[in-house]
Amino acid sequence: PSPRELFVDYPNSEGAELGNDQVYYDTMDQILPFHEEYYEVLCMIAGEAIEPNEGHAIISPVDKRTMGRVHYCDQAILDRCVSFLKSHPLPDEPIEHVCARLERFADLLVQNKHELMYLCMEEAGKTLQNAHDEVREAVDLVRYYARQAQKNFADPSILDSVTGEENLLTYDPRGTVLCISPWNFPLATFIGQVSAALGCGNRIIAKPARQTSIIAYRVMELLLEADIHPEKLFFLPGKGSDIAHGLIHAKQISMVCFTGSISAAKQIQSWLIEYGHGFTPFVAETGGQNIMVADSTALIEQLVQDVVASAFDSSGQRCSALRVLYIQEDIKETFYRQLQGRMALLNIDSPFLRNTDMGPLIDSEAQQSLSNHIDWLQKNAKHIATAPIHSKLPSDNYMAPSAWEIKSLSELTQEHFGPILHVISFKPDELESIIQQVNALNYGLTFGIHSRNQRWINYISHRVGVGNVYINREMIGAKVGAQPFGGHGMSGTGPKAGGPNYVHAFVKEKTLTSNI
Ligand code: SER
Repeated sequence: PSPRELFVDYPNSEGAELGNDQVYYDTMDQILPFHEEYYEVLCMIAGEAIEPNEGHAIISPVDKRTMGRVHYCDQAILDRCVSFLKSHPLPDEPIEHVCARLERFADLLVQNKHELMYLCMEEAGKTLQNAHDEVREAVDLVRYYARQAQKNFADPSILDSVTGEENLLTYDPRGTVLCISPWNFPLATFIGQVSAALGCGNRIIAKPARQTSIIAYRVMELLLEADIHPEKLFFLPGKGSDIAHGLIHAKQISMVCFTGSISAAKQIQSWLIEYGHGFTPFVAETGGQNIMVADSTALIEQLVQDVVASAFDSSGQRCSALRVLYIQEDIKETFYRQLQGRMALLNIDSPFLRNTDMGPLIDSEAQQSLSNHIDWLQKNAKHIATAPIHSKLPSDNYMAPSAWEIKSLSELTQEHFGPILHVISFKPDELESIIQQVNALNYGLTFGIHSRNQRWINYISHRVGVGNVYINREMIGAKVGAQPFGGHGMSGTGPKAGGPNYVHAFVKEKTLTSNI
C-alpha cells in the first residue's frame, strides 16, 4: 500500500489541526478523563492474565504521580511460560486470517486513540502532538505490515523451472518471536514489532520497557479483543535481562526483535550465540550519534527551524535525533544569533498544558546522566544557548534544551539521549575528513544535510554510511511506507522498520522442487 492509502484510513486531519484552539480543547476533553484511571498491569501467558505477585508502582514522568501498578514476571511465571511453549506448538493459521484480525486491531487502536494518546502523554511524557503522531504511526505500521505480509507470503512464489519440474518458494512463520521494545516510542515501536511478527503468523512474547508497561498492556488487551489467537500472545513485563536470558537459555525463542541500547543488544546477541537453538535471527535497532552538516549555502532560517526540531523535539529522546551539527565557519555567528532567538521561544512544561513544546525526560536516571554531561560541557565547551524555564515545573524530570560548541567529534564518547545539541564549526576543505570521522564512529542511523549545492549534497549522501539521510529538512519523524527507518553498524542489524522488506525477516523460506 502507498503511504497515502494508509493515512486516509485514519482520520488524521485532527493532527494537522491540533494548533487550532477548538480542535485542541475538544481533543483534551476526550483525553483528560483517563487521568482518573488506576491501571493494573499483569503478565500474560497464552492470552491469559496471571494472578499478581507483588506489584511495583508506575510513576508518571510528568508529575511523579502514581498511575497504577505493574506485576513483574518472576521465575515462577517464566517457568510457566517455558513449559507452555514446550507443550503447545504454534497454532497454524492462514496469513489472510491473521491479517484480517490485525486490520480489526488497527480499527480498535483508532477507536481507543484518546486513551492511547493519554498514556503516551502521562506515561512517556509526550506532547499532545507527539502522542497523536505516535498513535497514527502505530496504526499505519499495523496496516502496512499486515498488507505486506499478505501480499508477500499468503501464496508461494512460483520460480523459474526447467521442463518437467516445478519450483516453489513457500513462507513459514519463524515460530516464537521475543519482542523487546523501548520507552521512547512505547506504542509505535511496540506495535511495529508485534504486528510484523503476528502478521507473518508467529507467536509473540512481548517485553515492554520498564517505564511504559501500561500502554503496552492496553495493546495486548486490544490484540485479544481483535481475536488474535490467544496462544500467540505472551506479555512479560519485568527485568529484560532476566527474561531474555531465561527464554533464550530454555531454547524457546525462534527470533529476537529488539529496539534499545547497544549494550543490551550485544548482550542478547552473545546469549543467542551461546545458548541459541541454532543461528537465531536477531533484528536490532539501537542508538546513533546523529550528525547534520550545514554549508554556507544553507538557508539559515530553515536550518534553525530544522535543527531545533531535530535536536529538541520529544526532548531529544528519539534515536533519530540530531546530536552534532557541523556548521561552516562563515555562517556560524549568524546561525548562533538566530538559534538563540528561536530557543528563547521554546516552552518546556507539562505536556498537558496548551503551549508546551517539550515535556519531561523519562525519569530521574536520564536526568542525572544528562546533567553530568552538562557539567562536563560547562567546563569543556563554549555555551551557545539554553532555553528559559518560564514556570514552576511539576517534577524535577524536566531539562531545558541547550546548545554547546565543542572542538571535535572525538570529545563525545557516547550518545547523550536528551535535549543537548553539540556544534562544531568547519572550513570547506575539512569536509572529507568530517565524512571519514563520521564513518569511523561506526554508528549509522540518521544524517542531515543543509545546502543548496547539489554536487555537495550528492557527494555527502553517497559517502556517509547511515540508514537515513535527510536533505534540507528535519531529520526525525520517518513516515511508514515512505521513509523506511533503521541503521547499520552499531545502530542496528536492519531490516528497516516501516519499509517493504521488514516483514521478510519474520518468515522462513522453503524451496519446493517437484518432478511433475
Ligand atoms: N522513527 C523515529 C523517527 O524517525 C525514531 O526515533 O524519529
